[in-house]
Amino acid sequence: MNLASTIEEAMATRRSCRAFLPTPVPRAEVERLLALASSSASNSNSQPWQVHVLTGAAKRALTADLLCAHDEGRRSVGEFAYQPAADAWPEPFRTRRRRFGEGLYSETLGIAADDSAGRRGHHRRNYDFFGAPVGLVLTVSRAPLQGALVDAGLFLQGLMLSARGAGLHTCAQASFIDYHPVLRRHLTIPDDHLVVCGIALGYADDGHRLDDHRTTREPVASFTTFYDSVGPHRDAAVVSSGVASGSPV
Ligand SMILES: Cc1cc2nc3c(=O)[nH]c(=O)nc-3n(C[C@H](O)[C@H](O)[C@H](O)COP(=O)(O)O)c2cc1C
Repeated sequence: MNLASTIEEAMATRRSCRAFLPTPVPRAEVERLLALASSSASNSNSQPWQVHVLTGAAKRALTADLLCAHDEGRRSVGEFAYQPAADAWPEPFRTRRRRFGEGLYSETLGIAADDSAGRRGHHRRNYDFFGAPVGLVLTVSRAPLQGALVDAGLFLQGLMLSARGAGLHTCAQASFIDYHPVLRRHLTIPDDHLVVCGIALGYADDGHRLDDHRTTREPVASFTTFYDSVGPHRDAAVVSSGVASGSPV
């Protein structure tokens, strides 16, 4: 079990894990991670998040209903505009998204770009939380939504990094938003809350080919402008090369 003992290791080894072992995670450990995540900053300390934790029979029942809705094509319009339609992403995000898809589907899974049945087959694994023993659903207050979504993102990152400190892995899953009515039937989500994402939590199945998938990042100079005596410039002197997520500890 690779366990991150510093924040740098947690940052460097966090990645989206899509193949988990069935090894259970004790309830007390889940609570400890949620307590750590709740130390995240939020606007005026409003802490607008709620978390639903599913294990065992409750998780199996939700998964069964989600897969049924997925297989019957009962996808719902999102409660908020999480992302544009596939063909409406502007550059440079469109190219990055395409690269991500090629890396996961073609290179890792061997599924061709035009094999929509194969892609659907992989996508449906989301609804089993990729086999993780713990499935979480993160919701956030609708009012005031924009700020609360920022806070929810910080909570999510806090949870994912805390998990690394316990040797656990995670995958954030916006795919759950598509079936929010199913989630509302199974979970006690208040009407004034929106589903932000699901989160798979557990121990990585290191030998699984789905767990080979790694992503890269743009270099610091591509997204940072420095302002100093020479005026605005983008050449980052200290770190100039891109990093990848999920590096070994
Ligand atoms: C809010 C959010 C939602 C995501 N939704 C999904 C999802 O539904 N299914 C999935 O397999 N990955 C999902 N991901 C994982 C991203 O694809 C992943 O973070 C990205 O490709 C970068 O890779 P890395 O997390 O391994 O560094 C999501 C990530 C975030 C932050």
